[in-house]
Amino acid sequence: MTPPLRVAPSLLAADFARLGQELARAEAAGADWHHVDVMDGHFVPNLTIGPPVVESIKAAATRPLDVHLMIEEPGRWAARFAEAGADVLSFHYEAARDDFVATLDTFRKTGCRVGVAVNPDCGVEPLQPHLERIDLVLVMSVFAGFGGQKFMPEVVGKIRQLRAWGYDGDVEVDGGINDATAVPCREAGANVFVAGTYLFRATDMAAAVAALRPTAAARS
Ligand code: DX5
Ligand code: ZN
Repeated sequence: MTPPLRVAPSLLAADFARLGQELARAEAAGADWHHVDVMDGHFVPNLTIGPPVVESIKAAATRPLDVHLMIEEPGRWAARFAEAGADVLSFHYEAARDDFVATLDTFRKTGCRVGVAVNPDCGVEPLQPHLERIDLVLVMSVFAGFGGQKFMPEVVGKIRQLRAWGYDGDVEVDGGINDATAVPCREAGANVFVAGTYLFRATDMAAAVAALRPTAAARS
């Protein structure tokens, strides 16, 4: 059974000078989770925020924080981001392929829901033996690093593959998601939709959130 549909606005597209109001605006529009993008300038060629800002976001938010780590050596930072308030904590497989099992163990010990992310050029096959210990698979539909990129439809097959294996955890898509690109992802079995530009730049954010979560039964 596919878990419930969820919409997670990516704060990367929010106005960082007014973060508290942007969190409230996303929540009023119907956001289920807040997607928080952490970049280190090494794993991806961009820098964003660290644990102190996540802590402040946690204090202001009333929805779970879905923290997407795009950093090298994620195991070194797992506990710190968990303490800062992450509810879902995802790391990239590519950043941990040499010590994947140990990294997964480290993340499991945090008590967070554990996610593993894959960039568009990385298959989901290496995750298959470990799926029982992975709560969420984050299928990137752009290369991690920047908001506002174009959705890559070729990643949809990975979503279908995960569900064909019987994976019943969360399958999240992130990158170039809007009302049109969400459709093939949803049909393939994705249930968590991250969107930055589409939601924060919408004239009516609530309508945009609703468009990503079109079935009445989805919100319970
Ligand atoms: C990109 C980030 C995304 C990004 C999505 O590396 O992981 O979460 O904010 O932005 P949009 O929805 O604008 O593609
Ligand atoms: Zn992200």
